[in-house]
Amino acid sequence: MNPSIYTRRRAALAAQLGKNGIAIVPTAPEQPRNRDSDFLYRHDSYFHYLSGFAEPKAWLVITSDGRTTLFCQPKDMEREVWDGYRLGPVEAPSALGVDAAFSVAELDAQLPRLLDGREVVWFPFGIHKGLETRIDGWLSSLRARVRYGALCPEQQRDLCSLLDEMRLVKDQSEQDTMRRAAQISAGAHIRAMQLSARMLRDKQDVREYHLDAELLHEFRRHGSQYPAYGSIVAAGANACVLHYRADAAPVRDGELVLIDAGCELDGYASDITRTFPANGKFTGPQRELYNLVLASQEAAAAVTKAGARFTDPHEASVKVLAQGMLDFGLLDKNKVGSLEDVIEKRAYFQFYMHRTGHWLGMDVHDCGGYLEPTELGQSSQRKDALTGETIVNRPARVLRAGMVLTIEPGIYVRPAAGVPEKFHNIGIRIEDDAIVTATGCELISRGVPVKADEIEALMR
Ligand code: GLY
Ligand code: MN
Ligand code: MN
Repeated sequence: MNPSIYTRRRAALAAQLGKNGIAIVPTAPEQPRNRDSDFLYRHDSYFHYLSGFAEPKAWLVITSDGRTTLFCQPKDMEREVWDGYRLGPVEAPSALGVDAAFSVAELDAQLPRLLDGREVVWFPFGIHKGLETRIDGWLSSLRARVRYGALCPEQQRDLCSLLDEMRLVKDQSEQDTMRRAAQISAGAHIRAMQLSARMLRDKQDVREYHLDAELLHEFRRHGSQYPAYGSIVAAGANACVLHYRADAAPVRDGELVLIDAGCELDGYASDITRTFPANGKFTGPQRELYNLVLASQEAAAAVTKAGARFTDPHEASVKVLAQGMLDFGLLDKNKVGSLEDVIEKRAYFQFYMHRTGHWLGMDVHDCGGYLEPTELGQSSQRKDALTGETIVNRPARVLRAGMVLTIEPGIYVRPAAGVPEKFHNIGIRIEDDAIVTATGCELISRGVPVKADEIEALMR
């Protein structure tokens, strides 16, 4: 992305900090894996949103007048031999468009000075362990100088509240990156489907990790930095475990495979699920449930548009799924009653226990409130029919063009008394990524087909 995007974002944030505010934004820490090996480094999304800078040990300080100071790792030839290139504070202003840059070793010396005379300190609440203690330390060294005329801030506020709103609506360049990420992931799903059918045709011992490897290969060969989350490759009954991870289970002829995997590209996630027959041909019962989930996804997509509520797609998919559960005998009409009863009593929960979507962006479960900020005062209460808990209902977020969410209904049939055996252990989810538009939504992940016939055709 071009550096002016970050300059514009910092200016937009600065304008919301109040007359004399200051914002402090650290990037993510490095995470030890074992001994002296770290997990692969991933920057903090807020920090990257405002800087485009991916090095660890870096901080941004932004003041209401729009002035930005970066703290980053100093140049160090010896460390760079081991760990790689560092931008350093001398080059940072021209490379990143910040006004000043210091070594991160200067943080404790500079922050009390930067905080002097500010009214409000903004920082992300509840994200960075130890951040509040550090800020307390800077404030207390500033307070030690009040006799010499220092002026301490009076308020601390959560920076997430501002940045979450900004990140919720994706600009053109973010949408372009997300389209590319979704396109790469779609190609990876196609390859995994084709590999499964090919290996089974060749009578090979197919394992979940074979398909996982195919995904990774396709992500990386297109320049994706890493998967956006741990890939789920679930063969057969494993598909009924919602957070299953790609493991070593055999992929068997005649069973379904559920793959939930998406790459991260230049800081943006994609999140796609497809469920397909391992050998390339759906059985009758598999196809029945597959078409039900697809119909529920279509119903959800049809109501996803600017002006609708975030909860509308969920309600639309639940209606279709619940009716299907009655029609296919998963739920017994004589026990659970009508469609309205099934929804009211949440009887569908036995087979569909998650929500139909979430915000998608820099984080796979992206930031952004799910309630409509202009209607926060309006709430009502009801008793949940399943748990008896009191639930506070607040009006859900009204969708706007440029918001991005997933649409991912599913059905998960664990063997149980009264559940037709032909459906036992079938787990199906279909997940696409949608950019909200004025009149509908753009499904950016449909580079991988979703209709049963089209999946069979590409696996042939
Ligand atoms: N892959 C995580 C999700 O679908 O929410
Ligand atoms: Mn998802
Ligand atoms: Mn997913």
